[in-house]
Amino acid sequence: MKHLLSTRDLTLDKALTLLDTAEEFQAVANRQVPKLPTLRGVTMVNLFFEDSTRTRLSFEAAAQRLSADIMTFQVQGSSVSKGESLKDTAQTLEAMGADIIVIRHPAAGAATTLAHSGWVHSSIINAGDGAHEHPTQALLDAMTLRQRFHQEPRGALLTGLSVVIVGDIVHSRVARSNVFLLTTLGASVTLVAPPALMPQGVEDWPVAHTHSLDEAIDSGPDAVMMLRVQRERMGDGALISQKDYVRNYSLTAGRAARLPKSSVVMHPGPMNRGVEIASSVADSERSVILDQVRNGVSVRMAALYELRGGEA
Ligand code: NCD
Repeated sequence: MKHLLSTRDLTLDKALTLLDTAEEFQAVANRQVPKLPTLRGVTMVNLFFEDSTRTRLSFEAAAQRLSADIMTFQVQGSSVSKGESLKDTAQTLEAMGADIIVIRHPAAGAATTLAHSGWVHSSIINAGDGAHEHPTQALLDAMTLRQRFHQEPRGALLTGLSVVIVGDIVHSRVARSNVFLLTTLGASVTLVAPPALMPQGVEDWPVAHTHSLDEAIDSGPDAVMMLRVQRERMGDGALISQKDYVRNYSLTAGRAARLPKSSVVMHPGPMNRGVEIASSVADSERSVILDQVRNGVSVRMAALYELRGGEA
């Protein structure tokens, strides 16, 4: 595997390899060897043109645990503000020794362009491109679901699991990547959003969709994934009032109480507590939000490892 750009083109086989490798790394870390020599001599660059907390830090942690060298690129204060192009920036980083470039960029397709342009030879990982995809987020979500619903996660699919994804679907690369990965793994996915935040053409996606969160809650899903309203990606006019949003689309304590006992609540972060999710629900027993963060490190270790050929 040379690049990790999307989950849409990830086969079941590749997805299972990545997830199983992530489980292996987690097992090793739990066995008190947090650091492995696996990627000694390999340099990973975090090339982030957008803000991030979890994703950037967990790629750093993953690289560290595999003994890779890390360079972090800060757009602010870099020559990008002088108009340097993506091509020149990436070529500069590669000339300094980058083997793997982890890129987050506001433009959909940026990672794919970098991978296929011939500008650089590095392996490319898409850490979020506009409203398009965020494959490692979906992998860590799938890992979290496997662990929660299978005694032995290794090799397991998500067949029969029902997952409801709620919120700003139209702007969400997390939703897109999850739709493709979770359905590849056999789960059934229902998207919930107000009309203005439901993507056009959703009929062609392998999912069910509804405008009613209450209906989705009462269908008794195994997992409910809440998304942030991405005001920074909205033009004028798309906004619905926060009051209406909270009334109809927030996972309140009352709604969470109607879920089956075994259902879990997920959120990729950053959360707007009190908007899409009530604080008490985010901190409740059924929340697996911190498991998602924890699994993010293992999944990114697996991605880095597989991109380097998966050798011992
Ligand atoms: C998300 C992102 O940036 O795509 N966060 C993340 O990576 N965990 C979702 C968001 O910004 O709301």
